Amino acid sequence: MVHSKIKKIPNKISMGNKPRPFIVLLLLMLCSNAQLEAQNLVTDVCLGCLCEATSGCNQTAVCNYGACGLFRVTYAYWVDGGKLTLSYDSPDSPEAFPNCVNDPYCAANTIQNYMIRYKQDCNDDGEIDCYDYAAIHRLGGNGCKGALPPGYYETLNTCLRYHSHY
Ligand SMILES: *[C@@H]1O[C@H](CO)[C@@H](O)[C@H](O)[C@H]1NC(C)=O
Repeated sequence: MVHSKIKKIPNKISMGNKPRPFIVLLLLMLCSNAQLEAQNLVTDVCLGCLCEATSGCNQTAVCNYGACGLFRVTYAYWVDGGKLTLSYDSPDSPEAFPNCVNDPYCAANTIQNYMIRYKQDCNDDGEIDCYDYAAIHRLGGNGCKGALPPGYYETLNTCLRYHSHY
């Protein structure tokens, strides 16, 4: 079953239960805006909710099963995202991939590039928004119409609804 944003899920998060890792990441992203390249398809709120759903915004630099960092970016994804590197790394260095995607800004820019390449209306609701970017992020540019893991979708949806006033 493909989840759609039309599905009604009551937002029961209270003010005292703010997802703090999200706020930390959001501030990081807002502060880094000057460094981001011109075309950003994915909003800061969407990036924050993507990391919530993907890793709980855990910024510990770690690779598990080939997926690294708070957005769990794989090597193939990083290549499709333009092989961005930290300033001191050569794209051909074996460390270039983990160093970039373990860095919040480099990882976020990789996602922006990936979405420029693969943006599409995955859930057929007539618009390309964070629900589509989240499906592309999780399922890949060629499989985004597939079913998302329920926990991933629920975390994303709750986060997007909670932050929709931004
Ligand atoms: C973050 O990830 C690291 C490495 O996987 C883990 O040891 C740590 O417990 C995680 N932190 C939280 C708050 O989940």
